[in-house]
Amino acid sequence: MCGIVGYLGKQNTKEILLDGLKELEYRGYDSAGIAVLQNNNFSNFKAIGKLINLEEKTKNFITNDFAIGIGHTRWATHGKPTELNAHPHVGESSYVVHNGIIENYVKLKKSLENDGVKFLSQTDTEVIVHQFEKNLKASLSAFEAFEKTIFELEGAYAILLVTKGENETIFFAKHGSPMLVGINDEDEKYFASSDTPLIGHATQVNYFEDGDYGYVNKNEIAIFDKTRTKKEALFTQIATNRLSAQKDGFRFFMEKEIYEQSDVIADTLLGRLSEDSITFNELDPNLFDGINEIKLCACGTSYHSALSASYMFERYTKIRCSVEIASEFRYREPLMCKDTLFVVISQSGETADTLETLKMAKKAGLKTLVVCNVDNSSMVRLADACILTRAGIEKGVASTKAFATQVTVFWMLSIYVAEVKNTMDSQQRAKQIHLLREVPASVKVTDVMHERIKRLSKRYLHGHGFFFIGRDIFFPLALEGALKLKEISYLHAEGYPSGEMKHGPIALADPELFTIALLPQHLLYEKSKSNVEELSARDSTICAISAIDFDKADDFIQISTCQDYMLEFFEMMVAVQLLSLEISVRLGNDVDMPRNLAKSVTVE
Ligand code: AGP
Repeated sequence: MCGIVGYLGKQNTKEILLDGLKELEYRGYDSAGIAVLQNNNFSNFKAIGKLINLEEKTKNFITNDFAIGIGHTRWATHGKPTELNAHPHVGESSYVVHNGIIENYVKLKKSLENDGVKFLSQTDTEVIVHQFEKNLKASLSAFEAFEKTIFELEGAYAILLVTKGENETIFFAKHGSPMLVGINDEDEKYFASSDTPLIGHATQVNYFEDGDYGYVNKNEIAIFDKTRTKKEALFTQIATNRLSAQKDGFRFFMEKEIYEQSDVIADTLLGRLSEDSITFNELDPNLFDGINEIKLCACGTSYHSALSASYMFERYTKIRCSVEIASEFRYREPLMCKDTLFVVISQSGETADTLETLKMAKKAGLKTLVVCNVDNSSMVRLADACILTRAGIEKGVASTKAFATQVTVFWMLSIYVAEVKNTMDSQQRAKQIHLLREVPASVKVTDVMHERIKRLSKRYLHGHGFFFIGRDIFFPLALEGALKLKEISYLHAEGYPSGEMKHGPIALADPELFTIALLPQHLLYEKSKSNVEELSARDSTICAISAIDFDKADDFIQISTCQDYMLEFFEMMVAVQLLSLEISVRLGNDVDMPRNLAKSVTVE
């Protein structure tokens, strides 16, 4: 999830671009850059790390005349955060910035390299500017070359491109990644990934739709739809409050991030699914050679996604899998065998305990893999292999979309390894991949679900505790639901295996003990149901989350009838996230920055 800005006008283009990028840093900032075409001269600056580094690089660069400019803050999905990989990417006389993933970039890159094109970066984005210039050389006009290029791309993109031959024009295209254009009475044109950078500059904005492409110049905004038909811009008033704009109108970043899960999971899947096979371009297929055990190690929510992964790995790959809490693992003098693949999971890539276990595994000579959301983080730099979760920046301290994308990555990885180890036939793989494609839809938050949870949350603001219970892969989800509630409501909650309640915890059952019961229709439903009936018989207050109505429950959160328990998993994940959010809101807590917690625990 990167940030894009563009400007056409007579104001200080550099300042407008940098200020705009500053407003988008919440979307990603492992590197940033701008390109400005002024008096037919291009100036291009890039810097890794925080935006202040780019400001330092451009401090002597003056823009005080009519100019066109584009800018970008990067959240790496392909290629390390380096200056070469930072946007804008350059051709011979053109620059491009891009947010999204070009799924067919490998094919396009190979063809361009065969034509003698030299690539400077590892990114998918660079193919755009070289493909454009290839089309330009075929004596097409700049717009025709841009149009042809856009129709040759597959995947998700928000693109801004400028070229020397058209020094008063910015070309744009949008498909799957957000972008809008803003105008004001001074004939200026503003582009951005979200409206925040335009506040105070533009007065009207047009949110592009998927398939929109075209160009702007001093006098015109030309928009074409996916049928190449010209269309009118639909301008609306721009928001006025920057912070609420960063939250896109949601009350909290956590709420926004729960709603974002559908889009970021779609990003996580992009370029990795074919009919019956999973592709991880970033993995060496030999990574799993000689591996007889997979050991997963993490903390907090990442530990819960690791536990979820263990069910899928053993079920699909028939490789023994163990899961460790990093803070325990690092001090218990563990046995480490060289036929173990050591996998660390971390949203931040900086958690001290997890990082330390990674160092231990490296020292013991084990192969290591990190599943992480932050490229260039300590764990990414240290591990032998890395899979990025592409969740974009997660601002809420209570993790949501990072967990969702971690479980998605592990689901894909278990199918990938099952193919490498030949433990799942192509028909079974195709079925699992079909289900994976349904996940973005299954985590879309519906108003009905959210309103239902908002209403019933008023009944759960007290009590002497919560149990979240589930069986099999729903046990780690129960743990995650309990952690979410603890973190932001400060009420006590435990995640527990449903079958374990009768071995002691049921002694707590009474009307003030709240049980959130995960009852998937497609996995051990009857067994889970009988566990809940034991609690209900002892007057515990039950909130059942299920596709099937459950008459013994005091409250019921209905999920849709799914094809498979994994889709039930993701729907229930959204329900427990929303439940903790709405209870916390009612208690008046700071949902995004709950007391005593930090987003990344970089100390022991
Ligand atoms: C999750 O909601 C918590 N904020 C916390 O448990 C977190 O998952 C844990 O600190 C691990 O962080 P990491 O994923 O960045 O390593």
